[in-house]
Amino acid sequence: MRGSAVAEPHFACNVDDVPIDAAKVVKIKSLSVGIFKLSDGFHALLNICPHRGAALCEGPVCGTTRATDDQEFVYDRAGELIRCAWHGWEFDIRSGEFLVDSRIRARTLPISLDGEKVFVHL
Ligand code: FES
Repeated sequence: MRGSAVAEPHFACNVDDVPIDAAKVVKIKSLSVGIFKLSDGFHALLNICPHRGAALCEGPVCGTTRATDDQEFVYDRAGELIRCAWHGWEFDIRSGEFLVDSRIRARTLPISLDGEKVFVHL
């Protein structure tokens, strides 16, 4: 029978290792993974940009410029997005969704905490 493997928790880092304004990039089972601390908790993304494969999580954590109904632009969603350093594509850290085309997503990974330790499930 073909089945899906059960994701196992793997230690990623300690809670205090994750900065607020950048990812903590760690290696887990030969994969590079970015750990992020947002206002609602911790999130993990595979450190591969779905555009051309750059190290996505090494780009800046940022917001984006959003148009308003008044034909103005405002800076919005500060600290919720990661911008790929190669070509500037912006992704929602929580969902992995590319802001311009929701069909394109960075890979999110399940994450959990055990005390002060952060685990990624692979
Ligand atoms: S490789 Fe990330 S935006 Fe092009």
